[in-house]
Amino acid sequence: MSQRDSGYERKERDLYETPAWVTEALIPHLPRRPLAIWEPACGGGKMVDALVDALPDTIVTGTDIAAGRDFLVGEPAVVRADAIITNPPYEFATEFVRRALGSVPKHGVVAMLLRTDFDHAKTRSHLFAKHPAFAKKVVLTKRIKWFEGSKGQPSFNHAWFIWDWTHEGPPTLAYGPQSGGAE
Ligand SMILES: C[S@@+](CC[C@H](N)C(=O)[O-])C[C@H]1O[C@@H](n2cnc3c(N)ncnc32)[C@H](O)[C@@H]1O
Repeated sequence: MSQRDSGYERKERDLYETPAWVTEALIPHLPRRPLAIWEPACGGGKMVDALVDALPDTIVTGTDIAAGRDFLVGEPAVVRADAIITNPPYEFATEFVRRALGSVPKHGVVAMLLRTDFDHAKTRSHLFAKHPAFAKKVVLTKRIKWFEGSKGQPSFNHAWFIWDWTHEGPPTLAYGPQSGGAE
């Protein structure tokens, strides 16, 4: 995910680490407790750590291109998981969503942290308004500070987008975090 925060250059390969409160804000909105989660762009593992803390009975596996596993090439389901959850690199976000939807089983869930207007583009309507599994958008009412100690104000709003292959009906809208949400 590409981010700019005053005074900082864009990081190589979009290695922006997601603060724990952002991952925690997703948990109450997961349609069911996953048995196994794959975080396919895990970077330094911040999101993996937050998932392990929040879901101690769930197996969480993190992979990353920097550690030799390119999510977008090769067999789609190299890690067996009923949920794929990540904060993808911004420029490949569409490919990450497509690939994740094709990698989870037929009862699977995909959750992606994206800019809040990511679903606006007509060219992406096949992933949102027209996608049968698109289940929920969770708008984060606090902006994410990507760099600890950053003095500038973050420029972008984000949301969790959740697909559930067992979902029926139109997607729903929610807001998070439900309480708190540390900087
Ligand atoms: C925005 S960071 C997210 C890091 C972590 N998910 C988090 O939230 O703290 C994006 C990550 O995507 C990884 N990445 C970029 N392209 C990738 C690809 N094709 N396959 C797997 N990982 C990739 C980068 O190395 C980087 O660690």
